[in-house]
Amino acid sequence: RKPISLPRIQEMHTRGEKITMLTAYDATFAAVADAAGVECILVGDSLGMVCQGLHSTVGVTLEDMAYHTESVARGLRRSQGTAWLIGDLPFGSYQESKEQAVRSASVLMQAGAHMVKLEGGGWTTEVVHFLVERGIPVCAHLGLTPQTVHALGGYRVQGRGDVASDLMKKQALALQDAGASMVVLEMVPAPLSAELTQELPHCATIGIGAGKGTAGQVLVLHDMLGVNLGKNPKFVRNFMQESTSIRGAMEAYVAAVKNGSFPDDAIHAW
Ligand code: KIV
Ligand code: NA
Repeated sequence: RKPISLPRIQEMHTRGEKITMLTAYDATFAAVADAAGVECILVGDSLGMVCQGLHSTVGVTLEDMAYHTESVARGLRRSQGTAWLIGDLPFGSYQESKEQAVRSASVLMQAGAHMVKLEGGGWTTEVVHFLVERGIPVCAHLGLTPQTVHALGGYRVQGRGDVASDLMKKQALALQDAGASMVVLEMVPAPLSAELTQELPHCATIGIGAGKGTAGQVLVLHDMLGVNLGKNPKFVRNFMQESTSIRGAMEAYVAAVKNGSFPDDAIHAW
């Protein structure tokens, strides 16, 4: 297999081939996910919850993210993996200025990331443009943005109603114009994320709790394996229930995303 590249992701989006993404935080799980055919691996700041036992992602530091990104990058290198590696910029590492964002993104790129992800729309547009101009591919993140959970008032669906959906459309188009080549849509109504996918030909939408109309899907690794401390949100499917191994569960996830059976909009979307 050839390494997954930005042009390949763009080609998949254009052709309507579903893009698969899972989170991973360590070398072994990253290598297994890659071998299972997962195209994109996100070292998410969700590691604050699943690895560190925090209540939100707000406490995760850039040093934490660099450590896990390095581990994942090593795992992919050792297994000759081909996945596209995305590092999450944590809370407080890009809000201050465009220059701070470049400095933080450089730490993750030098740890082995191919792309960085940052949350929010509006004010992030110029940050994205600044990074992309400097050769750092960017994945944006709209809808439920967990780093701002305290401002949002909880983990709930975003983009409901005309005002909120129009705002999200405006923000998404601006992020595409700024050069974001992917955007995660988290807990967004399925019709809205399907519409955004059509309106963003140069920016692949990756849904989580956003219905099946996106260019790709992402899940938190522990959630789709059914190992977590709390109760799974309704948009998650436990792929271990249909598999006898972790690699098998990941393969089932890839197959289900590719053939459109996950997510099931009757169960997994709003
Ligand atoms: O941190 C994370 O795992 C994420 C995904 C849920 C998109 O941001
Ligand atoms: Na995240």
